[in-house]
Amino acid sequence: MKFMSVILLSLIISISALATQPSIYGENGVVVAHDLEACEAGIEILKKGGNAVDAAVAVSYALAVTHPQAGNLGGGGFMVIHMADGQKAAIDYREMAPGQAHRDMFLDDSGKVVPQLSIRGGLAVGVPGTVAGMQLALDKYGSMQRKHVMKPAIKLAKKGFTIPYDLAYSFGWLNKAAEGFDETRRIFCREGEIYMPGEIFKQPDLAKTLKLIQRKGNAGFYTGSVAEALISSSSKYGGKLKLKDLTNYTAHIRKPVIGNYRGLEVLSMPPPSSGGIALISMLNMMEPMNFDSVGWHSAQHIQMLAEVEKRAYADRSVWLGDPDYFTVPQEKLLSKEYATLRMVDYDSLIVTPSDSIYPLNDKDLAGIELAGHESEETTHFSVVDKWGNAVSVTTTLNWSFGSYVTVKGFGFLLNNEMDDFSSKPGEPNSFGLIGNKANAIEPKKRMLSSMTPTILAKDGKVVLIVGAPGGSTIITTVLQVINNMVDFEMPVQDAVNVPRFHHQWRPDVIHYGPGAISPDTAVLLKAMGYELTPRYGYGEVNAIARDQVFGGWVGAPDLKTASHGAAY
Ligand code: GLY
Repeated sequence: MKFMSVILLSLIISISALATQPSIYGENGVVVAHDLEACEAGIEILKKGGNAVDAAVAVSYALAVTHPQAGNLGGGGFMVIHMADGQKAAIDYREMAPGQAHRDMFLDDSGKVVPQLSIRGGLAVGVPGTVAGMQLALDKYGSMQRKHVMKPAIKLAKKGFTIPYDLAYSFGWLNKAAEGFDETRRIFCREGEIYMPGEIFKQPDLAKTLKLIQRKGNAGFYTGSVAEALISSSSKYGGKLKLKDLTNYTAHIRKPVIGNYRGLEVLSMPPPSSGGIALISMLNMMEPMNFDSVGWHSAQHIQMLAEVEKRAYADRSVWLGDPDYFTVPQEKLLSKEYATLRMVDYDSLIVTPSDSIYPLNDKDLAGIELAGHESEETTHFSVVDKWGNAVSVTTTLNWSFGSYVTVKGFGFLLNNEMDDFSSKPGEPNSFGLIGNKANAIEPKKRMLSSMTPTILAKDGKVVLIVGAPGGSTIITTVLQVINNMVDFEMPVQDAVNVPRFHHQWRPDVIHYGPGAISPDTAVLLKAMGYELTPRYGYGEVNAIARDQVFGGWVGAPDLKTASHGAAY
């Protein structure tokens, strides 16, 4: 019997040897994140008996130290949780507009958008949510105390870590880009004497801030010396944040959006992210499609996904925003009936120009009869523990290094998330995304996001934890990983590492990464009527999948960038 299972196992292994072999495998826990030190921080907590949520909080704080482009204290994010006992939650710690924000704050007297105002300096800063979000996650779903889970991050900030090439490179360009932002240049660019790869980077100011949070929790960040310095640093660069904005900030537990794709449960982030709804609505539109006879990244495959993407992004522009300020027709957008209506004009041979795809209006939506009642620089990380608890986190300062405002004396950057609002109806933001009333600026409102931390489960058990950075491309990146695994049967590390493409309705263009579209396929697509534009930087997917051979977990960091994983 034993002999037979060995034969069977070697047969399975030899078949799967045709695919890329995983290099990160663990039965007790896996963490996949941008930096190795952050992954190790998570594994350290898991080894001490913490669960995936404890580890995720440790990873998040570690990334605030090792990945200052996106890991943060001065930004926000979303955490999707699937506990082994069946509990499901979405933690919303998205930034909020300050109390003094108003709809036209980024327009000049003639009503034109003032370039850069929502991107650099104090007005670009939304009220940060990360510290409150981590505390909420720990209180509700963690098992360890804050003082323990923050230890690895404090050590990294105090003792330093070796600067990898990509970070030294980013510090180099920040040195030029952040001219006038003295504290930022002092901390991250040694005032012009830029860091080299391989040097040790110590952050004593940041260590002090982390210790304050470790000791006092939210009070150590949203009140007292950190809060006062945050307000004065933002004001120095034109910001209007007030102490009251900070003390009023709360993170929320929301119900994740839930869909179903070919028998898999898809759990993702609800508004104020557009990610979960757009992802599930696209998967619903894809479900009637048959990928069996379609070549991967053939002209036909790209047409199928591009047409689905255009329709979902058109609706995103009108129907998605902060649910506390705008009634998002969530149930309808997530329904299979909506997907059928949306794809009524789809033809596998035809390109529908974006100009003839309109966001659904009130009447269209009212016509949907539900069958019954049955959910550019950013970073994503995934965590699983030995009990099968799974956590998917995407967090950000928005652009790389956010607003460029560093809180004086406390060593952390502030976000430029205000640019994710629609500064003017119908005008694209820095990701080219169009927004309208649903995402107009209002005091205390949360700006719409594309972040899509997602977990897939089968029969109640987690099979995939996935997400990505990449602004507007986040949603189509996650979509393609799922499409690659479910419809093209790729192992997770291939599904993550193959190149990707993206359509977001406007501009009416397919963007594609290196190697995503072969020259002869490009000829076919152009003949169909598509415009194609090459583009670098397609997110950094950091995924974990249940291993089909040995039953543990396989970590799949995106090797197109400089990502990592750790397991035990
Ligand atoms: N800041 C990018 C996003 O939230 O989608």
